[in-house]
Amino acid sequence: MSPHLRSDARVGPPEENVRAVGERVLSVLGRQSWLDRPGYRLEHALGFALAACGGAGERTSNLLHGTWLGHPLHPLVVALPTGAVAATVALDVAAMLPGHQSGLREGSRVTLGVGILASLAAATTGVNDWQHTKEQSRRVGLVHGALNAVATALYVLSWSDRRRGRHVRGVAASAMGYGITAASGYLGASLVYRLGVGVDQSGPRWENGQWTPLLAEAALEAGQPQRVEAGGIGLVLLRDGEDVIAVGELCPHQGAPIVDGWIDRGQLVCPWHGSRFDPVTGQVVRGPATAPLPCYQTRIRAGTIEVRPGKPTGLRAATGAGE
Ligand code: FES
Repeated sequence: MSPHLRSDARVGPPEENVRAVGERVLSVLGRQSWLDRPGYRLEHALGFALAACGGAGERTSNLLHGTWLGHPLHPLVVALPTGAVAATVALDVAAMLPGHQSGLREGSRVTLGVGILASLAAATTGVNDWQHTKEQSRRVGLVHGALNAVATALYVLSWSDRRRGRHVRGVAASAMGYGITAASGYLGASLVYRLGVGVDQSGPRWENGQWTPLLAEAALEAGQPQRVEAGGIGLVLLRDGEDVIAVGELCPHQGAPIVDGWIDRGQLVCPWHGSRFDPVTGQVVRGPATAPLPCYQTRIRAGTIEVRPGKPTGLRAATGAGE
């Protein structure tokens, strides 16, 4: 094989090179353990600020996570600054063409102002989600946030320059900021699609099946959840007073083992970040989880707890109702 061919084989097709660069960037960022110290400081400061606000802090955190929406709020909010700044760049390009420059310049300043305000909203939702990440996700998320902060600073500088009549400098600053936003967007998308941040982690559901005997009733004690399997799917059985609850074994937020959770004031609490679920419906009562916890129907027959797929209808196993 000639040296030329060997060189071609090493370089590979362009898409492979692009993919390799992306993976290398994520891998390198994910190994930067020196980012953990500022990361944990920021997390503690956020946690302290939210705790100091009591119930209002919890409601704000739920609002920012998207618990009320059943879906993370951050990806929806991010579309606003990205779109507004993209419109700014497009108007700036159009303003370079002959005619209507002043109207287009005024329009680009307005869209840039919208982009700056929306960037602050996106940062608020993003940092609220980021505080519960760990290791590689935490480090990549921190760099993602830092890049967005630099981009937003450039947008503010650009807006100020435009207002003072320094249009060319303003256009250059916002164009540079948009480039940084695009690079940061790659990291943000990787956090979701590669590292699973914000993705429902509750795993596969048990969807087809009949009443299945899973555990002797006497073996399930209050405060001692039990993991069982049905149809190849892991479930957790818990006692809530006289009732028996059957739920999925993994928390939808980051996959914490629900078998280590507990019932508090009628709500099922995740052991890792304290998300609370209604044990009957599986709906999130308190974040950071946004997706519901899978729940199953239960009943007791001849001293055995039986479970089947389907939403519980109200009272749980002890009544033997629900067939
Ligand atoms: S894993 Fe985070 S709240 Fe359950």
